[in-house]
Amino acid sequence: MSKDSSKKTSDTKLWGGRFSEPTDAFVEAFTASVEFDQRMYRQDIEGSRAHARMLTHVGVLNQEDCAAILKGLDQVEQEIAEGQFEWSVAREDVHMNIEARLTELVGDAGKRLHTGRSRNDQVATDIRLYLREQIGFALAELQRLKQGLLDLAENEADTIMPGFTHLQVAQPVTFGHHLLAWFEMMHRDTGRLEDCARRLNVLPLGSAALAGTSYPLDRHYTAELLGFDDVCRNSLDAVSDRDFAIEFCAASALIMTHLSRFSEELVLWSSAQFDFIDLPDRFCTGSSIMPQKKNPDVPELVRGKTGRVNGNLVSLLTLMKSQPLAYNKDNQEDKEPLFDTIDTLLGSLRAFADMIPAIEAKKDNMYRAARQGFSTATDLADYLVRKGLPFRDAHEVVGKAVALGVAEKRDLSEMSLQELQQFSDIIAEDVFDVLTLEGSVASRNHIGGTAPEQVRQAVAQARDRIS
Ligand code: ARG
Repeated sequence: MSKDSSKKTSDTKLWGGRFSEPTDAFVEAFTASVEFDQRMYRQDIEGSRAHARMLTHVGVLNQEDCAAILKGLDQVEQEIAEGQFEWSVAREDVHMNIEARLTELVGDAGKRLHTGRSRNDQVATDIRLYLREQIGFALAELQRLKQGLLDLAENEADTIMPGFTHLQVAQPVTFGHHLLAWFEMMHRDTGRLEDCARRLNVLPLGSAALAGTSYPLDRHYTAELLGFDDVCRNSLDAVSDRDFAIEFCAASALIMTHLSRFSEELVLWSSAQFDFIDLPDRFCTGSSIMPQKKNPDVPELVRGKTGRVNGNLVSLLTLMKSQPLAYNKDNQEDKEPLFDTIDTLLGSLRAFADMIPAIEAKKDNMYRAARQGFSTATDLADYLVRKGLPFRDAHEVVGKAVALGVAEKRDLSEMSLQELQQFSDIIAEDVFDVLTLEGSVASRNHIGGTAPEQVRQAVAQARDRIS
């Protein structure tokens, strides 16, 4: 026996009692999570404080030990915050690192902290606490982004641009209206995150390893200390399911998907071919070889990062799908996808919230583009319907007028009354009111429509909805 392996495992491991040889060095590193779960140290300490207080409240721990634990935890927290803490892979994870250091500091009291608790309910609690806080940050960024969208939409309520279907010019819309579409998506995203935060805010502690505990714990007391709305109702479920993390990743995947579609538009719009917007230089980068380039890196990256968030969702679903009840070590693999999702989401939302208010609309270019592609053809058809023609016939008439326009490269509004009348004699001078872009957008004046007046109303209502 080497000198090292002659050491009792219980000297180095909090669970070493039943082991007769030390953990293989590779296995130790392979099974450790401390490198990535240490980011939950504040939540782990907060959970321990509450657990110690509750144990004291029910008489399982005495006041003296409780005071020593609380004092020790303060010191551990300070050491970590100041970068003085020595994280150890031998101590496997954030929970055992903190408990072992606490015990070094306060002796036996530290060893009593884990009474009636398991790392299984501890880690489930820590993740919920951590995610709850991070969702708060994401909601704040979403709010900032939505406010930016509303401000811009209000400024651009009268700005006319082409609306697209199939990426072909379809009908004129106002830029403000287009921006409000993004607002609606972001607003639903907010609701999804709020739902997720509400459902996850339930306390696992007290479930212990899987079956509950024989100590007379007061779980509601712990829940109240930690700001949970309720306690988990089944111990097996509490320690093993990660549906709250999956739900968050699903909500994040949707947010990123929305941001990615939005990004795609920003990339297109800032190209020389569209030239609808200017993104400020501080959100773009240049090329090392082509001096003229200004690349929309931020939207491109957000579009790209959507892939990893979608991937993280699939990772977690796959991680969960074959696990028998209750806790399995597989669940340690929940953290990296979850943390990566959080980081990616927060970064992307921040970038968008910063960038949106700085977008500059090139109104003239948008207007000119809206005049191409016969975007008021539907308005002409509606005009004919109002004069008594059945819609299908009107569609046919306008189709012929468009064919002439295509052949002669002229918009409908550029044709003379006589020219238009050769397609239908019910066309009169007032047709030009509907063939203008302004007339077209102004006529769609109902809830959800593109008229400038509606955009202004929708913005005002949206401000109420998010206040
Ligand atoms: N590091 C572990 C995790 O993240 C903590 C729970 C370990 N529990 C256990 N019985 N090995 O899931």
